[in-house]
This record gives sequence, structure tokens and C-alpha cells, in this order.
Amino acid sequence: MTTTAVSTFASPAVPAWAVQHWPEAASASQRRVSFEPMTTAHLDAVAEVEKTAYTHPWSPRHFSDSLQSGYPAVLLLGEALPGEAEHGVRPDGRVLLGYLVAMPGVEEVHLLNITVAPAHQRQGWARFMLDALVHWSRGQQAQWLWLEARQSNAPARALYERYGFKQVGLRRGYYPAGQFQREDAVVMSLPLAPVGASGVKA
Ligand SMILES: CC(C)(COP(=O)(O)OP(=O)(O)OC[C@H]1O[C@@H](n2cnc3c(N)ncnc32)[C@H](O)[C@@H]1OP(=O)(O)O)[C@@H](O)C(=O)NCCC(=O)NCCS
Repeated sequence: MTTTAVSTFASPAVPAWAVQHWPEAASASQRRVSFEPMTTAHLDAVAEVEKTAYTHPWSPRHFSDSLQSGYPAVLLLGEALPGEAEHGVRPDGRVLLGYLVAMPGVEEVHLLNITVAPAHQRQGWARFMLDALVHWSRGQQAQWLWLEARQSNAPARALYERYGFKQVGLRRGYYPAGQFQREDAVVMSLPLAPVGASGVKA
């Protein structure tokens, strides 16, 4: 249940928000994990995961635009476990478990992308990243977390509902689907109780 502080792995180019505000939370398993700010150097690895996780993945351009805009974007890295070589262990002995990209607004944070690499799904990592995002967002005095999910994305909707998000709207034809087709987005939000209040856990 140990976690390495994000600053351990931070490069000098890392924006201050990423070093200062991401928590040293307990991990969902015995694996040691850490957050590392996403940079353009990571985009090949991120794009590989995107392709395996989505029917309509973000392009590297989506990520680089977000980075250029200064949006919070972090990787969740875990120490490789024995026998995991086939899942893409990095030279530093860690594996890319997942990542998220968010967009801060006025008193709210919009979750733009949260992805767990298929080999590491159903181990609590998305919940772990949401915990970290909630923690960081509270530090920004945000009152709400917002997101959209494909209506057909049952795993994502189950995750968010289980976490406490409520559906607050529908965006018609928001996502590309099959050829010349579009899919609706479910809009969901989560109120962020002040630290110490009951409700969403810190
Ligand atoms: C959705 C996603 C992020 C969930 O990541 P994850 O690490 O597997 O989720 P967790 O292990 O933290 O699951 C937390 C809870 O969410 C729900 N959940 C997650 N995946 C689920 C699935 N495939 N089916 C049903 N419920 C699911 C469960 O309630 C789960 O709790 P439980 O395992 O105790 O039952 C992951 O499936 C993913 O990356 N999918 C592709 C990308 C994507 O769709 N991102 C979201 C875009 S809106």
C-alpha cells in the first residue's frame, strides 16, 4: 500500500501544479505506484494504450493540444510485477497503468480523458485516479467534477455511477460512431464536498 511521491519522478519541465497537488494516496494493490506529469515524450506510449482501449481513440494531437493548453494531465505508473514483461515494461522498470487529462474551469474541473490500460483494468486504478483528481480539484477550490461518457460505454458509466457521479444531461450526437454516425454523450457531475465533510471520500 505504498506510493512514491510524484515529485520523485518529476522532470525540471514539469508544471508546478503536478508536483504540488497530486496526493500520495494509498494504492489499490500492493504494487508501488506514482503519478507522473504527462509530457510530449510520453505520447507514443499513451497513443498505444488509446488504440487498445477505445473504438475512437484520441489522437496524439488531442493530447498535445491539452498539454499545450496547460491542462492537468498525469500518467499512473506502477512498478512492474514479475512476469509482466509482455505488457510493455519501461526501461525504468515501471508500467503505464493509465492516465487522465482534465480541464480546470471556474469552480469546476472537467475530466476529459481517463483510461486504464486493458491489461490493468478491474483492479481499482480508475477509482484510484478519480480519488487523486478529486483531491487535486478540491485543492483548486473546485465545487464540481464534470465529464461526458458515451451512452454505450457501460464500464465507464458503471465506474462513475459507483463513484457517485449523477447523470445531469445528454449531448445528442456528441461522439463519432460508425461511418456517418454519431453517438449521444451522457453528461455526469459530482459535487465536491469540502475536505472533512461527509460524502465523497478524500
Ligand atoms: C472505464 C475504465 C476507465 C475503468 O477502469 P478500471 O481501472 O477497470 O476501473 P476500476 O477497477 O477502478 O473499477 C471501479 C468500479 O467501476 C465499475 N466498473 C469498472 N469497469 C467495469 C466493467 N467493465 N463492467 C462493469 N463495471 C465496471 C465497477 O463498479 C468497479 O468496481 P468493482 O471492480 O469493485 O466492481 C476502463 O474500463 C477503461 O479505461 N476503459 C476504456 C477507456 C474508457 O472508456 N474511459 C472512460 C471514457 S468516459
